[in-house]
Amino acid sequence: MTWIGTSWKMNKTLAEARAFADGLVAARSALDGVRAFVIPAHTAIAAVRERLPSDLPVLIGAQNAHWEPAGAYTGEVSMGMIADAGATLVEIGHSERRQHFGETDDTVALKVAAAVATGLTPLLCVGEPAGVRAAGGEIGWVAGQASRGLSRLPPHDLHKVVVAYEPVWAIGDRGREPLPHEIAPVMGMLAARFGPDAHDGVAAVLYGGSVNRLNAAALLGVPGTDGLFVGRAAWDVAGFVELVRIAARARHAGWRNAG
Ligand code: PGA
Repeated sequence: MTWIGTSWKMNKTLAEARAFADGLVAARSALDGVRAFVIPAHTAIAAVRERLPSDLPVLIGAQNAHWEPAGAYTGEVSMGMIADAGATLVEIGHSERRQHFGETDDTVALKVAAAVATGLTPLLCVGEPAGVRAAGGEIGWVAGQASRGLSRLPPHDLHKVVVAYEPVWAIGDRGREPLPHEIAPVMGMLAARFGPDAHDGVAAVLYGGSVNRLNAAALLGVPGTDGLFVGRAAWDVAGFVELVRIAARARHAGWRNAG
């Protein structure tokens, strides 16, 4: 099944979060056949959980959590706390956290392991900065980040993880939309080494960074791509639902069926 999800980053009041959830309920029929997920800010996780009927096929995530189960970590929340609030998924190692909040491959690996130990699905984000891409080093960079991020998990737990390839140069307002051929070699490497068809592979490999309704189908057609992880284009519920519909259609025309 094609994955399609959004992280709201540091956006949305409780009222805005509830309105988005209500929009998902109204679009219920569109959600069949895709694996949809929404990642609110911590403050809105419980409100979104309460607003969505338990049988609505939408996973709720958190954007970060600490690796320790409890303790003197002012300002942090634990994996258990986000699970208690209603999350079943947790984003780990997004480039904005690596850049602004000192996340390293070591803390990322601790968080991935803590998430699995708590019964959460880690959504491990990897991706190269522009300088690495300019020097042609993206394959090695991304492979290294992925293997270090997964390094604390035993092989039999790897299927509990989702990996998202998010090149730093493609993310956000200052990001540049990628062309499918620019991401294809990295997606191919991730699929071959870490993907669901690999030995002890993860559950899915997603692409994220400047995804929008015009490029989504082409990006989903890149071999090795099991879904999309979207920011800006999905913060409005109509935009998210449109991307869900595109992902549902791609299920029939996607790379696995192309050959
Ligand atoms: P964007 O964000 O779609 O707004 O570029 C992607 C991300 O940060 O995951």
